[in-house]
Amino acid sequence: MKTNRMPTPGLSLGCDYNPEQWSPDVWREDAALMREAGVDLVAVNIFGWSNLEPAPGQYHFDDLDEVVELMHANGIRVNLGTGTSSPPPWLTTLHPEVLPAAADGTLRYPGGRQAWCPSSAVFRDRAYALVRQVAERYGDHPAVALWHVSNELGCHNALCYCEESAEAFRSWLRRRYGKIETLNEAWGTSFWSQRYGDWAEVNPPRLALSLRNPAQIVDFHRFSSDELLDYYRGEAEILRGHSTVPVTTNFMVTAHIRNLDYWSWAPEMDLIANDHYLDHRLGDPVAELSFAADLTRGLAQGRPWMLMEQAAGAVNWQPHNVTKAPGELIRNTLTHVARGADSICFFQWRASAQGAEKFHSALLPHAGTDTVAWREVLKLSATLDRIEEVAGTTVESDVALLFSWESWWSAEGEARPSQAVEYLDQVHAAHRALRELGVTVDVVSPEADLSGYRLVVVPCLYMVGDLAAVRIADYVQGGGHLLVTFFSGIVDERDRIRLGGYPGAFRDVLGVTAEEFVPLKPGDLLNMTNGGTGSLWSERLRTTTASPVVSYVDGPLPGTAALTRNEFGGGVAWYLATSPDPRSMREIMRNVTVNADISRTGPESNGSVEAVRRSGENGSYLFVINHGTEAVEYPVTGFDLVTGEPVESLLRVEGGGVSVVREERA
Ligand code: GAL
Repeated sequence: MKTNRMPTPGLSLGCDYNPEQWSPDVWREDAALMREAGVDLVAVNIFGWSNLEPAPGQYHFDDLDEVVELMHANGIRVNLGTGTSSPPPWLTTLHPEVLPAAADGTLRYPGGRQAWCPSSAVFRDRAYALVRQVAERYGDHPAVALWHVSNELGCHNALCYCEESAEAFRSWLRRRYGKIETLNEAWGTSFWSQRYGDWAEVNPPRLALSLRNPAQIVDFHRFSSDELLDYYRGEAEILRGHSTVPVTTNFMVTAHIRNLDYWSWAPEMDLIANDHYLDHRLGDPVAELSFAADLTRGLAQGRPWMLMEQAAGAVNWQPHNVTKAPGELIRNTLTHVARGADSICFFQWRASAQGAEKFHSALLPHAGTDTVAWREVLKLSATLDRIEEVAGTTVESDVALLFSWESWWSAEGEARPSQAVEYLDQVHAAHRALRELGVTVDVVSPEADLSGYRLVVVPCLYMVGDLAAVRIADYVQGGGHLLVTFFSGIVDERDRIRLGGYPGAFRDVLGVTAEEFVPLKPGDLLNMTNGGTGSLWSERLRTTTASPVVSYVDGPLPGTAALTRNEFGGGVAWYLATSPDPRSMREIMRNVTVNADISRTGPESNGSVEAVRRSGENGSYLFVINHGTEAVEYPVTGFDLVTGEPVESLLRVEGGGVSVVREERA
């Protein structure tokens, strides 16, 4: 991250604003209502291209000028979009070669959004020309507080398999490997007669008759992420040439998007911004929200970040679009703030009357202001005002959880021991157990500096490079505690098996070796000596220096260890070789955290209560969010900023309630 300057002081409340969809008299009503709602930041010109440049090279800024002036006159800062996220129809008509191709080589047509190939020279040329116009015009406008490059880069078009992408992929591979022979080694092309004699023979991993080369697929993911980052860099450079305002783009740290390696993107942003929507297709959407917020904080290196988009109510793109119950918006929002967000923005201001998102919620619903939804927005705004002093404080944690997009791509290859093992499920299970114990977790890169942590959790880190493997072992050697879960440390960066017994990269530090994976069919359970069950996975595992802690009592491997503990150097390393039921997972995590002397921030629960502390020079703030229906009590003394009441030694938070306590210093 380059600067980390938030767009406004304090906690901002903002939204996407799409005035193109409305007439100027509505804009004026919008500005007045925004003031009523306390909105102080709006993202405009996100999808502005076809209005700004209705024909090639003909720019019309009158409407955008008026909107920017209107916002400025109302004291609302502007998060200014470059407008490039969706090409106008004239561009794709004149230059159909900008259209992206799917893995089977078929084109993806315009008619939706983001129909452009990330490597397209024509697209870049036209998009950068627009950015130059926007940057020149508004680069020093006093209303502009932030630059919003494109929108959710790679949301739909991350993987393009067209011929221009193929050429760019070849160039990327040449830079990575230098010689074709090195590429052959890295991809293991002796297998199935895939040896390349010349770069021109190499292609993206387009759909094939059988399983594709997994190393080629992983490299294509790396290339695709780098290619869009390179596109971002081009826009950012133009903006920086005309303006000193911070530049960013909205990340998608969320369960259903996985194509961008944000560890490599984050250092290039002036501040980290994320879009997050509750995903009701998941078992525990709120637990996933907490995880995503912790990961976003990791990308921001622990510093405050921005929630660029969330929904006020339902989205429209899930099969069943669940709305938010009264109070839920405040709980969700405070979960983001507790975990480091200093700016809370929504998609979008006014619910669209037309277009593909007309059934998506907004701050201002179709029915107007005499609505539960609008009153919820006003309540949220008042709550953010009351807790404003938390802005700038940071979250501290003794526990790091390692997360890797590369591992996600590679662990879910086409041919693997079990299709039922999904990377994110395993990551979420570990995070959820810690959250239920009231332990706050930092989610960091496998190559992060681990020295400040008492415990490092490594869930399902299938692909691990030498640097990370050495760092993790050194960390334990130096006295750290480590928990590794199954299907970790299996391959190196080339997706090549680390030979000699699983989990190759971590065999020594864990003091175990497995000769064979023994995955289970979905639904099959193994009973374990701790009274719990394991599912999905087991291994023909031997301890070398570790001690077994929990073993299977039945199934294919009775007596074999499911959980082991190893003393290594000055530290302790645990290995969990199955997917335990949630209660056992929490018990195992309890054991591991107690052993590592980890302190809790909040009460233990089934996930219905979460507590996180933010602190800074002027004090500390305990956020307690009660997602459940029963009241909870927790020992703390201070002043509750939400209720405006002092708290004498015991905080009571009613079911569905939230508290932010400015703690009294001892
Ligand atoms: C995001 C996008 C917004 C809007 C929103 C709907 O992916 O950036 O433009 O489409 O989702 O949930």
